Amino acid sequence: MNQEIYENIRSWFDTYSNSLTSENDEIQFNIELKRNHSFNTVELLSDLMQEASVSETETLIARISALVHDVGRFEQLMNYETFSDTDHVNHIDLGISLLQSENVLSELDDDKKEIVFECIRYHGVDVLPKSINENALTIAKLLRDADRIDALNIVSKYYSEYKSGTNKRLEMELADQPEISKKVYKAIVDEKVVSNKDVLTLNELKLHQMSWIYDLNFKKSFKIVSEKNYLKKMYETLPKKDEVIDMYRQMKIFLENQL
Ligand SMILES: [Fe+2]
Repeated sequence: MNQEIYENIRSWFDTYSNSLTSENDEIQFNIELKRNHSFNTVELLSDLMQEASVSETETLIARISALVHDVGRFEQLMNYETFSDTDHVNHIDLGISLLQSENVLSELDDDKKEIVFECIRYHGVDVLPKSINENALTIAKLLRDADRIDALNIVSKYYSEYKSGTNKRLEMELADQPEISKKVYKAIVDEKVVSNKDVLTLNELKLHQMSWIYDLNFKKSFKIVSEKNYLKKMYETLPKKDEVIDMYRQMKIFLENQL
């Protein structure tokens, strides 16, 4: 039964995401990137779930949440040609509205639907709010880790293999300037995730993404990030200034201590 519900939602997701095409190569590339990211997030979350004690129903809700967590990105890309969230247009609200208007979660009862929406709502915030529905907490943590691990895989590869400006959407349209603010530096040496709102340049975006290691929830997540060398790959694309070397050292030691 559970597998069937998942397969039905997956089949809606395939039909919907395959129906979107753009003549703009960068937009088309990013549509495919987001589609693959959705599948990879499901895979990674399933891997991490072995460490968490979750029931069969929670497993279903978790896999659905991972599959559709970024579904609003497609409309954001097609209609607004960006990955940048604003108060006005953001991929969270777009995604939840789409799932509601298309009745995608109709086979789930209201409590389960609400857990999926709660996970979507909070998958990308800097820190999980204390007010989160407690039934959603473990799944939200699994989703956040899986999402961030796959995002680190995508961006670490992109930053090392392409020169800046190649995929402006993936760079959140930020300028490639050398400045790194004191706020960003302080967050990292204090072992905190760099706040989204403090990200004003491409280098700060990279540091923000690296600082996700301070908010991973499962031992396996640290293990994957360490084995895949994501921090090092990203560090190698940053300017070698003393403050950058300091921040990298701090994050590296933190990560090693979690293993
Ligand atoms: Fe994501």
